[in-house]
Amino acid sequence: MFSKLFKTNSENETEEVDLDENKIPNHIAIIMDGNGRWAQKRRLPRVAGHKQGMENVKEITKAASNLGVKVLTLYAFSTENWKRPKSEVSFLMDLPSKFFDTFVPELIENNVKVNVMGYTDQLPEKTQKAVFDAIEQTKNCTGMILNFALNYGGRAEIVTGVKKIAEKVQNNELAADEIDEETIRKSLMTASVYPYDDPDLLIRTSGEERISNFLLWQLAYSEMVFTDTFWPDYSQADLAEDISKFQQRNRRFGGLNEGDKK
Ligand code: FPP
Repeated sequence: MFSKLFKTNSENETEEVDLDENKIPNHIAIIMDGNGRWAQKRRLPRVAGHKQGMENVKEITKAASNLGVKVLTLYAFSTENWKRPKSEVSFLMDLPSKFFDTFVPELIENNVKVNVMGYTDQLPEKTQKAVFDAIEQTKNCTGMILNFALNYGGRAEIVTGVKKIAEKVQNNELAADEIDEETIRKSLMTASVYPYDDPDLLIRTSGEERISNFLLWQLAYSEMVFTDTFWPDYSQADLAEDISKFQQRNRRFGGLNEGDKK
């Protein structure tokens, strides 16, 4: 089934990536980093990197969907990204309409459903419309969820969730000592991708090894893979290789392996 996935090895030879189709991560989250450096390396303006990054979202979405991933969460714009120059922010805000205008038919063909998490009410009207139209157009798709984190921040998400819980306590709908991990889970933005709220695998491209305020609660037991490749160059084969790394990890969730329990 996965015979079409290849990688180039250190001798520049093409090798098949060996994947166990029964151990595909249900939820993959990606910090798509390195667009600016990709462009700089080519003496292009930073926004050319974002454009190429957007094109690459299409490739990785198709690959993840074909592999049987249930949720693909992409960090497209953080609550901190407003600090960038106005022209760059404006370019980034135009990407969803460029992306969905051309890609919705293929999303539907691939049975991919669009979802968004973040403070969407603070986005320009045009951006909101592009995203909500795509959500509407793909609402009957039953395959992978393509979940965009747009104007998303992990700490802000927790603050919003805590406020919702506090309100319930104030209205006597919930007792303080009833609050448990499930209460918090349900209050977070990833409740919309239940039951796959927590990523199994986090990938960050471009050589940076930070979480950058992404899915702070949800990443508690995620496996992490950091790769030097800039996001616009991150290929379907790179994804397969990172999933293969994930499959070689030994996830214990704080417990022990069967053989180590004696
Ligand atoms: C980080 O690279 C990337 C971003 C802040 C934007 C990511 C957005 C996309 C890949 C396109 C999203 C597509 C849609 C459809 C919304 P950087 O600019 O920080 O790179 P640098 O660290 O090299 O400067």
